[in-house]
Amino acid sequence: MQFQNTLAFAQQLDAQDELRSYRNEFHFPKWEGKQVIYFTGNSLGLQPKLAQSYVDGIMNDWKELGVEGHFHSDKPWWDYHERLAAPLAKIVGAHAEEVSVMNTLSVNLHLLLVSFYRPTKTRFKILCEEKAFPSDQYLLQSQVRFHGLDPKEAIVEVKKREGEHFWRTEDILSKIEELGDGLALVLIGGVNYYNGQVFDMESITKAGKAAGAMVGWDLAHAAGNIALELHDWDVDFAAWCSYKYMNSGPGNASGVFINKKHLGKDDIPRFEGWWGTKKETRFLMKPVFEPMATADAWQISNPPVLALAPYLASLQLFEAVGMDALIAKRNQIVAYLEFILHGIAQEVKGSFEIITPKERGCQLSVLLHGHGRPLFDYLMQHGVLADWREPNVIRLAPVPFYCSYEDIFRFGQILKDGILLQND
Ligand SMILES: Cc1ncc(COP(=O)(O)O)c(C=O)c1O
Repeated sequence: MQFQNTLAFAQQLDAQDELRSYRNEFHFPKWEGKQVIYFTGNSLGLQPKLAQSYVDGIMNDWKELGVEGHFHSDKPWWDYHERLAAPLAKIVGAHAEEVSVMNTLSVNLHLLLVSFYRPTKTRFKILCEEKAFPSDQYLLQSQVRFHGLDPKEAIVEVKKREGEHFWRTEDILSKIEELGDGLALVLIGGVNYYNGQVFDMESITKAGKAAGAMVGWDLAHAAGNIALELHDWDVDFAAWCSYKYMNSGPGNASGVFINKKHLGKDDIPRFEGWWGTKKETRFLMKPVFEPMATADAWQISNPPVLALAPYLASLQLFEAVGMDALIAKRNQIVAYLEFILHGIAQEVKGSFEIITPKERGCQLSVLLHGHGRPLFDYLMQHGVLADWREPNVIRLAPVPFYCSYEDIFRFGQILKDGILLQND
């Protein structure tokens, strides 16, 4: 499609957008009384309007039923989390029994590493990307130390090439091959939080499995953003937070994927609690743990239903729209943003470059040259909520659920004015 940098063209794209009505399903924050341009759904997704009634429903059941809400409310609390598994399985490409929701992301990655990072004397290396999200770095280092190993020896980071802003798949594959029998685990962020790169999860998983390693993915920036086929790719485990593209609310619960082949096994180490034991006998309070036959075996505590309620509401929207439609719009709206950015970069030469490679989801990361935080502050003052990353990157994520082409056009005008003003 031949894009144009005009309001009329952007509005025409909006008029043709089959998902345009979904914008109205979300609450938009305001800045100085005006609705913002919200490009930071990769950090915190907007609140679905439906969420309030889901939370109110639980508050009301608690008020009316007290403890009986566990079993007699409209959506009983004791197995509330099970309602999220099937819709999430569609989003991440899994069987429903491979998915569960519990805790928060870093906690879940720790719990999954208890099961899937089992170093031996010879096979103990972990492969990850250079400058992974800090929490992932800390959790890998602490897991390695927990096993009495030295992070400097055990953790191998794949680096970007000199002068490049992205990782090359061939570099990751050849590092996996090089580590061979020494490789215990591959754990990478499926979509990099900084440059927005989508990793070739299928090829990397295949190579990791061929080397005899476990392969896991941190899908914080991937779930609800890109197409995932975790089961078919033979991924061992994955986890994601729900507050970014999944729109479940700040700090909310994390989803996990555990491949079917690891379910129902007696010999898998795991930290256990009463919500992972079989439902049928759970309240017999037996001293012996009998694991659920699903990923719920990793559940430790009873589910935080007040937190899961907005997540379930959001999943209802995903069910209605489907990932295919979201991805189709995402491709077009991100392409429009790129077109607008390229136009500005030509007009005000050398002011920035896009560092996100073609393998991308919703996010474009813009590396500023000569401009810094003041330009970002200018955007904020003019109603653009984007995301600043040190030292000089602005992350922009036009989420297909609720962003419009008009948002992109207007953002372009504000960005250009901001650059020109600061060049003066
Ligand atoms: C890639 C990635 N991994 C891990 C985390 C940590 O998530 P949490 O604080 O929910 O544990 C984040 C949070 O933004 C993230 O972006």
